[in-house]
Amino acid sequence: MSHSEFDTHWLNHRFSFDEAARNRQVERAALQHLAAHSSLHLLDIGSGTGANFLHFFEQLDRPQHWYLLDHDPRLLAASLHRIATYAQEKNYPHQRRGDQLLLHLGPHEVRVQTLSGSFEQLETLVDLSRLDLVLASAFFDLFRADQLLTLLDKLGRAKLAFLFTLSYRSMIFDPSTPTDERMVQYYEAHMQRPQATGAAMGPHCSRHLRDWLLEGTFDFVEGESAWQIGPTDFTMLHYLLGFMRTAIAELEVGDDGAVPSEQWWRERTEAVHSARLGLVVRHWDYFAAPRPETGVSS
Ligand SMILES: C[S@@+](CC[C@H](N)C(=O)[O-])C[C@H]1O[C@@H](n2cnc3c(N)ncnc32)[C@H](O)[C@@H]1O
Repeated sequence: MSHSEFDTHWLNHRFSFDEAARNRQVERAALQHLAAHSSLHLLDIGSGTGANFLHFFEQLDRPQHWYLLDHDPRLLAASLHRIATYAQEKNYPHQRRGDQLLLHLGPHEVRVQTLSGSFEQLETLVDLSRLDLVLASAFFDLFRADQLLTLLDKLGRAKLAFLFTLSYRSMIFDPSTPTDERMVQYYEAHMQRPQATGAAMGPHCSRHLRDWLLEGTFDFVEGESAWQIGPTDFTMLHYLLGFMRTAIAELEVGDDGAVPSEQWWRERTEAVHSARLGLVVRHWDYFAAPRPETGVSS
């Protein structure tokens, strides 16, 4: 879902929904890929408050060096704080050193290093040849297709495996009315609105990713990772209705039909208060690895 500035409370709140949604088959393929490495170097782009790190580090029973890359230094600081708090709760010895956090997971040293900058310059921020996996979660809907393709070409040239999770595709209200569908269309149009920097992919990001994979030299596994938001997930429902309200107002198209967008928002908010509304937000996950060279020469 697209928002220009990411609020730490929102990113932390979505964490448990992301955890439940992640596609286990896709994840297993990524973990199998990493099993061959005795120590790991992992880059998470658009790392936010550290969701990918927190999801994976305890599953990787080896020394790890994580690079968390984000263009928002506020979020990078929040991620180190969040990880340190978690380490404290779990009694993992840990130590903060400037832009790094060192923690011990049993016998293994786990280093978390923050990198401040845009993913478009990732090769200037980290040595790509050292990496075993590149991760990104809830990221690509924010960008133009050419930005994604440039990144994919860099990863392709560096022969780097990647795990791209929770790429937004669509959302469905439960129960859903034609007005809900129209508001979702407006919301998705807002994701793709013309901006000074060009139009973002919004819900089409995973299609672009898939097209590149189908044409390329990577083997891949894909699968759905949907948020199942129940009628008592009040905070999540309020967040999403709030995001839609703001986006539709910015688009200045919401009041052209039979049901004005503010009226729609009020009615849907009332439905949340009386626990009569659910939502499914569909995402897609991909793990891709360079196809092994056959070694057959002609
Ligand atoms: C929806 S959030 C996802 C955060 C995290 N991956 C998660 O799953 O919770 C998108 C993240 O991308 C970051 N971001 C946006 N544009 C970026 C860019 N050009 N380079 C690096 N990070 C960027 C934002 O600051 C934000 O942390």
